[in-house]
Amino acid sequence: MIRSGRHFLQIPGPTNVPDRVLRAMSQPVIDHRSPEFAKLASEVLEGLRPIFQASGPVLIYPASGTGAWEAAIVNTLSPGDRVLMFETGHFSQLWRQVAENFGVKVEYVPGNWRRGAAPSDLEARLGADNHHTIKAVMVVHNETSTGVTSRIPELRAVMNRLRHPALLIVDVISSLGSMDYRHDEWEVDVTVGGSQKGLMVPPGLSFNALSEKALAAYKIARLPRSYWDWQQMLEPNRTGFFPYTPATNLLYGLREAIQMLNEEGLPHVFRRHERHAQATRAAVRAWGLEILCQDPQEYSNSLTAVVMPSGHDADRLRKIILDNFDLSLGSGLSKLAGKVFRIGHLGSFNDLMLAGTLSGIEMGLRLADVPHEDGGVAAALDSLAPAGKIGEPARSLK
Ligand SMILES: Cc1ncc(COP(=O)(O)O)c(C=O)c1O
Repeated sequence: MIRSGRHFLQIPGPTNVPDRVLRAMSQPVIDHRSPEFAKLASEVLEGLRPIFQASGPVLIYPASGTGAWEAAIVNTLSPGDRVLMFETGHFSQLWRQVAENFGVKVEYVPGNWRRGAAPSDLEARLGADNHHTIKAVMVVHNETSTGVTSRIPELRAVMNRLRHPALLIVDVISSLGSMDYRHDEWEVDVTVGGSQKGLMVPPGLSFNALSEKALAAYKIARLPRSYWDWQQMLEPNRTGFFPYTPATNLLYGLREAIQMLNEEGLPHVFRRHERHAQATRAAVRAWGLEILCQDPQEYSNSLTAVVMPSGHDADRLRKIILDNFDLSLGSGLSKLAGKVFRIGHLGSFNDLMLAGTLSGIEMGLRLADVPHEDGGVAAALDSLAPAGKIGEPARSLK
């Protein structure tokens, strides 16, 4: 098939990489033991902290997000430790598996994949743990398989109310740089991030942001660790170096992406994602389709998972949309396979890209004969540009 124009990459990560970031990476590889490299790494290590809203160290691994999941586990826990995890969807399932592979005892709080981690469940489980045998509470902030966000401040408040000393470990792989997330203020101990979503950088880097308490837990944690060892990383990082060969050119990209986020301003970035999420949900409702997330206060601003009418296969619809409009949408993962499709509206994205994405979906719904109402795109445009509201698109937000 002959294609022209750009592909629409509207999966919920990896996301579209801005030309500025692509150009920044397109440089000769430099000596990773040179002063030039130390300057680059120091700028990036420093620049990441405000993105996590963290004052402590943020570590960068040359790895996908799964590596940073593992790093959070092996640096804080010991064999046989009890941890609490919440069944939010496919990614909580995978993270649980990593912990269990290391002999950690995971108490997995059941969920229906349509709601976030419930503060009341946390209260019940931690409240019953009088002897403080639960060593960590581990939560996926934005469950990329479902488009549901868990309310981290409320979970933290439960832990504080109960004076429970467990670590709070949070995965922000699909919310960092898209949705407001406050490592320090929410007293998170380890935040796990990745480069390929809101940060607009290709896959290949992942992060651990640390608290003082996490560093204290590191000292007594006994799981085997080598590549992921925080101390091995922290030492050379102090002077801008890595304990092994870093992903130099991805760091060039990350420096540029941080610069772009700062130019736009994080509050504006968050507001932009919120507007696009609202407009997407307006489209889904107008089509008469169902949003997978059941609780409006847990709607994700970085993606929307849409439930197919029964008897209609989401993967067939996605294929028709890809073949006809060169638009990639996210598939349903594990038990949601074929039942939902996911619209990524995060990263380097604007109103017209969203309008194009939703148009592709609306045309696809027609071609695939999926029962729906027309007018989803029109509803999204109304949401993005209400009549008479010039300058509204968050420009007033500083
Ligand atoms: C929320 C979340 N956690 C973890 C991962 C795993 O990251 P990776 O595939 O980069 O290893 C993903 C990947 O999409 C994710 O969305």
